[in-house]
Amino acid sequence: GKNIMGKKLGIGLAGFGVVGRGIYEVLAENSPLIAARAGADFSIQHIVCRHPERAQSLVGSTIPVGGDTRALIENPNVDIVIEVMGGIEPAKSLILGALESGKSVITANKALLALHGNEIFDCAKNFGVNVYYEASVAGGIPIIKALREGLSANRIESIVGIINGTTNYILSAMRDSALTFPQALKIAQEKGYAEADPTFDIEGLDAGHKITLLASLAFNTPVCFMPENMEGITQISPEDIAFAQSVGCSIKLLAIAKNLNGQIQCCVHPTLVDNDNFLAHVNGAMNGVFVQTNALGPSFYYGAGAGGKPTASAVIADLIDCARGNAPIQPAPTTEAFYLPPKEIQSQYYLRLTASSNEQLQRVQNYFEGFAIPIEKETRSNQCWMVLTKPIKENTLQSLISELNQLEDLDKPIKVLRKESMLMGI
Ligand code: HSE
Repeated sequence: GKNIMGKKLGIGLAGFGVVGRGIYEVLAENSPLIAARAGADFSIQHIVCRHPERAQSLVGSTIPVGGDTRALIENPNVDIVIEVMGGIEPAKSLILGALESGKSVITANKALLALHGNEIFDCAKNFGVNVYYEASVAGGIPIIKALREGLSANRIESIVGIINGTTNYILSAMRDSALTFPQALKIAQEKGYAEADPTFDIEGLDAGHKITLLASLAFNTPVCFMPENMEGITQISPEDIAFAQSVGCSIKLLAIAKNLNGQIQCCVHPTLVDNDNFLAHVNGAMNGVFVQTNALGPSFYYGAGAGGKPTASAVIADLIDCARGNAPIQPAPTTEAFYLPPKEIQSQYYLRLTASSNEQLQRVQNYFEGFAIPIEKETRSNQCWMVLTKPIKENTLQSLISELNQLEDLDKPIKVLRKESMLMGI
């Protein structure tokens, strides 16, 4: 039936790819319940996309469909703009233009917000409207709502997540189905998980954009994207995966944001995760985020991190918030924000060192003492020494490795993998 408030809100939809179509479908499928929860009836009033003729044939002739973002902003029937086209331009001009004309914006564009979020949030504030971006991180999982609302009474200590579906799909397939890297990537692309340019996925930049946004909310800082702290999975070999399994671990591309006594570590890298942690069981394109806070303690969020309808779920939840007039908490600048550069990033490291004699292995062990590297765990069989360090700086690790590389009778390249231990067990 007709909702009692009878408010009508027109949507301008920019982007009609996998996510745009998902929004169109979910809006139609769940229309009565969405209207009841929002206290408003939504209707799409304008679409801009790359292939207007395709979109037009799907949505019918009553909705204007074109390629001109300016026409969408200026359409008087458009009250709220949804941007799911991705990329920097024309998305950025569209969003700023919409905000400047007093229209709130909902976006899934993590790359844009990670690079230009501060400018966009400022603009929204100046024009008295809002930017919502739940769909930009972890697809359908309401992790931004969790940080802004459910956990808003807590001091956030750390966030460790698998927040890129494409790379998680690839790593899972390499481990479980013996697929090669290119085979697994191709399937992830066919399923619509990957970015238009999958380099962002496999080089860790997409996860990096997302963890940057989470860190700014969690630690109340401006958005600070540091690509030099982001590493992807292109160097991970089947041999690494086998090594991980031999020590009871899986390799996952982890996005990590930690508050280390006021210094913020925000990074992405492939990491060993013990198989008895929740994150080791986040497989395929699924995402999982572990959050440690001071009142609740540990909590874990799991769900679909990519794809049309899961992402639409998050976009439309924002739309409902917007219709209800809920103003979201935005990242805020503090004077104290300090993000650690690459050399200062701390990790535990797993090293596998194989020497040709016991004497040589003893020499290797002496180097660890020389650098005062604390050891958490070690096993030794014959001339092979496997060692897990306590958290040390990247800088220290690099100095150690360059010394060890000078040694003769030591197998090279030296195998090193990071390990994350501060996780939630199953
Ligand atoms: N390319 C992204 C992923 C899409 O694979 O997770 C969702 O942001």
